[in-house]
Amino acid sequence: MAEYSGRIGVVGSNMIDLVTYTDRMPAPGETIEAPEFELGFGGKGANQAVAAARLGSAVSVVTCVGDDMFGHQQITNFKDNGIDTTHVHMIANKSSGVAPIFVEPSGENSILIIKGANGALTPAHVDGAAETLAACDAILMQLEVPLEVNYHTIAWAASKGIVTVLNPAPASTDLDVSRLAGLSFFCPNETELATLTGMPTATDDDITAAARHLIAQGIEQVVVTLGGRGARLVTQDKVEEIAPIKVTPVDTTGAGDAFIGSFAHFLASGTDAPDALRRAARYAAQTITRRGTQKSYLTAEEFAGV
Ligand code: RIB
Repeated sequence: MAEYSGRIGVVGSNMIDLVTYTDRMPAPGETIEAPEFELGFGGKGANQAVAAARLGSAVSVVTCVGDDMFGHQQITNFKDNGIDTTHVHMIANKSSGVAPIFVEPSGENSILIIKGANGALTPAHVDGAAETLAACDAILMQLEVPLEVNYHTIAWAASKGIVTVLNPAPASTDLDVSRLAGLSFFCPNETELATLTGMPTATDDDITAAARHLIAQGIEQVVVTLGGRGARLVTQDKVEEIAPIKVTPVDTTGAGDAFIGSFAHFLASGTDAPDALRRAARYAAQTITRRGTQKSYLTAEEFAGV
């Protein structure tokens, strides 16, 4: 990226989050009462888009919603966040994606996803948005849409020299690493890294070796997220440690998406990758001190004040 337009494309998912705050998870066959419930906007793609937009990037999404009330609400939410909805497709006779989420007092979450219309996204939708995506500094992807869409987007963007970021979540053993050649940033956690490479990730050296194994297959840079130990950026010849930011967790839902969306924003603002990751770690940490998914994402003004 020699010049920056501050534009980001997100090719991916959107969901309605059905968030239950519970004191504990019920055992099989057990019914328990939970104290609180909240409905919110989520989905890994939409979350990443909203994080980048709240920080000030110009964001376009390529995504599918169902022809139900949630679909209309998603489009309104994108617009409310200043996101370009030209390439949001409403799919007939499909439900919108939904995600029942359970958050325990530790802030830890358990998530089920029902993809609904997200499963209808195709490479043709990406081709239809080519003009918009070609003007972006970075294109973000996740795994809540068909894998062919990601392979196609990566190959097309690489041919145009556009930076791409793939967050391989939720983890999928079907992901074919050989089809990620040309991807700029691959952002797995250490478990996903171990699953995808078949290599150990127990030590720092293991993690670096597994990341370099991916780089040898054509991925440019690997960002391994390490939970409470921060993150590590691995390139062909360098390793950068991204220190963890300590906060008291309230709700960790969507923190990973806040990290990716804000990373792309800082990158598209001309910040180099290690510094963009350090800022993203600070941004994501703030979101886990608040309840909700997109509800917990700060604007640029709010982030400047913390
Ligand atoms: O990463 C958090 C997100 O995962 C939630 O918003 C939920 O919708 C699922 O996609």
